Amino acid sequence: MNIILLGAPGSGKGTMAQKLTGELKIPQISTGDIFRKNLKEETPLGLQIKDILNSGGLVPDEITIQIVRDRLAEPDCADGYILDGFPRSIVQAEALDKFQHIDCAINLDVDKQTIVARLSGRRFCPDCSGTFHVSSLADASVCPVCGGKLITRKDDSEETVLERLRVYESTTLPLIEYYEQRGKLITVNGTGGVEAVYRRILDVLHK
Ligand code: AP5
Ligand code: MG
Repeated sequence: MNIILLGAPGSGKGTMAQKLTGELKIPQISTGDIFRKNLKEETPLGLQIKDILNSGGLVPDEITIQIVRDRLAEPDCADGYILDGFPRSIVQAEALDKFQHIDCAINLDVDKQTIVARLSGRRFCPDCSGTFHVSSLADASVCPVCGGKLITRKDDSEETVLERLRVYESTTLPLIEYYEQRGKLITVNGTGGVEAVYRRILDVLHK
């Protein structure tokens, strides 16, 4: 199954994709994780996109589309994948439709107040890309999965979160209508605990 996870920054795309990837045995393709890895390793791409990521803007469509196109052509995507954070613009969605068949786009519906609370407490593991919330960590500095050192993402500062939400509303929100018109949109209530949201997603996927 080829699944897209849609939703605002902090809506839980990465958290749900990580759980789904274990259950469905298909890979999570997170453009944000791919970009952060390049940033960490200071690759030419990483250096090119550093300022964009840190300010909350979007990496140019042509770069992002090419990366996803190459990634989805790898053998582990042959039986399906979960796209987390792509597409993020109509241009990206139209490009994706030209080279892939998408089964459904699951939109995680979360209010702004919840988003801000989630992002202000998020911790990220640069080693395994694990994403956590301080409220569920015994030690907020150590990754419970791989033992790596947890960090606060640079783009989780208040100013950058507001910019990411602004970019989401202007450029990414129109994708809801795009997938609705194509009969592929499934909206899921993204509020409540991690397990509750995950159950809702599994329920709609089983239908
Ligand atoms: P990206 O990494 O995709 O960031 P984002 O869309 O802003 O989304 P987030 O990762 O912030 O949130 P999420 O929905 O994954 O929520 P999470 O599961 O972490 O992109 C980063 C940057 O890369 C972009 O700003 C852009 O510059 C660039 N980029 C990426 N893709 C691009 C593209 N296609 N085109 C152009 N540029 C691109 O959850 C958040 C927190 O909430 C965590 O702490 C988590 O533990 C907690 N949480 C999650 N669910 C629940 C729940 N149900 N209950 C309680 N807590 C929860
Ligand atoms: Mg994410």
